[in-house]
Parts: sequence; structure tokens; C-alpha cells
Amino acid sequence: MTDGIRELIEAMPKVELHMHLEGSLEADLLFALAARNRVDIGFASEAALRAAYDFKDLKSFLDVYYAGLRVLITEQDFYDMTWAYLSRVRRDNVEHTEVFLAPQAHLRRGIAYGTMMDGVTRAIADAKSRLGITCGLILVFQRQFSEDDAFATLRAGEAFAGHVVGYGLGGPEVGNRPGKFARVFAEIRAQGFKLVAHAGEEGGADYVREAVEALGVDRIDHGVRCEEDGALVQELAASRIPLTVCPLSNLKLRVVQRLEDHNIARLLRAGLNVTMNSDDPSYFGGYMNDNYVATQRAVGLTREEIRTLARNAVSAAFVDATRRGELARSLEAYWAAR
Ligand code: HPA
Ligand code: ZN
Repeated sequence: MTDGIRELIEAMPKVELHMHLEGSLEADLLFALAARNRVDIGFASEAALRAAYDFKDLKSFLDVYYAGLRVLITEQDFYDMTWAYLSRVRRDNVEHTEVFLAPQAHLRRGIAYGTMMDGVTRAIADAKSRLGITCGLILVFQRQFSEDDAFATLRAGEAFAGHVVGYGLGGPEVGNRPGKFARVFAEIRAQGFKLVAHAGEEGGADYVREAVEALGVDRIDHGVRCEEDGALVQELAASRIPLTVCPLSNLKLRVVQRLEDHNIARLLRAGLNVTMNSDDPSYFGGYMNDNYVATQRAVGLTREEIRTLARNAVSAAFVDATRRGELARSLEAYWAAR
């Protein structure tokens, strides 16, 4: 790759659509919060913690991830985590981002809904006024828990729904099919919220189809295993339902063995509405620019494909027409000057 392409990527205005706030907690902040809250995370040093970021699959990652988020106790902790991410990706020229928060992971540790939501939303408001970055919040249910637990979580958060753009589904995929949450998602859709679901990361193409058909999602998170079903690929191309693809995540969790094997370029060339995202940047070795640069190098994305990925994210964002227009104009002005 020429330095020209790296610079082109780094300076490009970007939109991120798949990022777990709890997965943005860098080891240094995690350690600082552990000390501040006197939480024993079971690692002697930051280096020892980072050394544990050697995952063999989604489950082995989620074990470390759920252990790490126990350092989040106070409103300020949620603020600090959210602020750290937003200020970090602003330096990657991210202009708009949509972030996931998993309330169940915190509620079951005894953290109040208001504690997490107040910290996260205060940081989002500060980032907008001080950094000019906009951020939508998506609450994700953890699919290993029951439908009843999802409904209870939805009800417990009703007072905060005005701060939320949509709801999603995360956690260990295989064995926890999308259809388990069909009734939850139907109720949320009726309330006018956007819907997303992780599908086709470790689950097969049938999980992607089920997320579309049984949940009626507006975007698929990951979705890369759709390729195993040729008819589904054609349907996704026709419907233009966005896929929030996360190449470095897929490499770290061994969805692909080498980044060169990643199908993002093939999916794009098959006409799918693919976007580039970081997923859990502190654990997977990279934020937005790292994902773009490493993937470009590994699979040979062209300049035009980089532009298409960025345009797709603008069109797939859960924003109003005014903000979409601003993001689109910013991106087009950037490319017009190239
Ligand atoms: N998949 C499922 N659940 C998650 C992930 C992921 O990549 N990251 C955080 N929770
Ligand atoms: Zn994810």
C-alpha cells in the first residue's frame, strides 16, 4: 500500500456503526477504574491484562470482556469510558458514531439504570458540544439471557428511552438464535425504534436470514457468514440491508484465519451494503483507521471501494435527514478535493 492511501483513509470523514462501549475500555483506563473502585480484576499489570487478549473464539473473548466491565461502578466511570472512546475516534476523523451498551451486564451487577445512562449520555452531550462528533446510543440485549429478562430490561429502561436510537442483540451467538427475541423486537419496533442484531459472526447464514425475517432488523451486525447461502447473498444485495462488518474483530476471534481471507471486498463487489467498523477496539487491536488501513492492505480495497464503504455508513446511520445531509456533504467535499 502506498502512503497515499493510508493518508487518504486517515483524513477521510467517517461514520462508525458497530462499536461496544464496554469493548472500548482500554487496559490503562480499566486498570485506573479498578484501582479507583477497588475491584480486583485478577491481573497484576496492564501488560498481563493485554497478554490475555489472545482469543480463540467469541466465547473466550466474551469471558475476558465480561470480567473487565466489572470495573464500571459509578456514573463517572461510564462517562470516562464513553468520553475516552469519543475523543479517540474523533482523532480518526469519525464524525458520527453509533455505540452499543449492554444494560443487562451492568444491571445484574447491581448498577442502576440511571448510573450507566447518565454517565454515557453526559459524555455524548459533551462530545457533541466540545468535539463536534455526534453519537447515537443502541441498547443491546444479551442473547444468552431469556426473553423474559430482555422484556424486564426493556421495561426497566423506559425512563431513558428518549436517549436511545435503537436496540440490538449481542453475546454468544451459536445456540441463541435470533428468533428467541422475535416478540421483544416486535414490541420495540412498534414503539418506533431501529433494530439491529449480531448475526452471521459465529452463527451460520441461517442466523442472518432469521435476523432479517423473524426480527425485521434494519441492519445486520457482522453478517459475514451470509456468503454460505448464495440465495441469501442475492437477497441482501437486492434489499440493500446494511452489514456492519468488523474485519479486525473477525481476525482476532478467528472468524477468518488471515485478514487476506476476509470476504469484505467480495461482499462489496456482490453489491451488498457493507460498512467498516471496529466492534471492540481495545480488545481487537484497532479503531476505525486501523480497520480501514489493515483491510485495505490485506484484501486490496480500491480508492473507490473505500469511498463506497464510507458512503454506505452515512446512508445506513440512524440519523435524521439534516444530519445525514451534513455527513454526506462532508464526505463528498473530501473526495471532491482529492
Ligand atoms: N459479538 C457478540 N457480542 C459481542 C461482541 C461481538 O463481537 N462484542 C461485544 N459483545
Ligand atoms: Zn459486536
